[in-house]
Amino acid sequence: MVVALIALATPFVVAAQTSREYAPKLADIMSTVQFRHLKLSIAGQQQNWELAAYELGLLKSGLVDAVALYTNIPVENITMVDGPVKAIDGAIASKSSAAFGKAFQELTAGCNSCHQSIGRDFIAIKVPTASPFSNQSFSPAKAQGKADMRR
Ligand code: HEC
Repeated sequence: MVVALIALATPFVVAAQTSREYAPKLADIMSTVQFRHLKLSIAGQQQNWELAAYELGLLKSGLVDAVALYTNIPVENITMVDGPVKAIDGAIASKSSAAFGKAFQELTAGCNSCHQSIGRDFIAIKVPTASPFSNQSFSPAKAQGKADMRR
């Protein structure tokens, strides 16, 4: 049994050693972008601006990776999310829930514009209403609240 498993694993080990770099699949990059989109939304809804800024940074780098690794994605479609990403940045900086909500809807529309333009309109992203992450708290850390009170 053990021998059989080792025999099975060998081709994978060889493949891993010979391929110079591991490039994640585009759909896998997108899946991480999807949960950053979700966490960003919940963090914004709960006015956890530190977490929102953190998730926005990760979402941005995920999209940058997608375009850098998969040159067949229409790059101009990235501009569909560029404006909203900057608007979310501004909303986080000014701690404005209203601006955040508006910009987040625009970002979501931008995700879908790209999916539609490449014939993947069945991948329809929407603004989340609840977090499926029961193992993570999205409310602002106490320290953040204290820092705000000191101002
Ligand atoms: C520049 C174009 C572009 C933008 C912008 C874009 N996507 Fe995608 N997305 C794609 C492409 C291309 C695929 C299909 C990948 C494949 O099937 O290999 C995809 C697939 C997906 C998938 C399917 C992955 C799966 O396993 O279910 C999800 C989810 C997704 N995107 C989320 C998002 C979210 C959320 C945003 C916005 C924050 C976004 N995408 C913005 C191009 C884009």
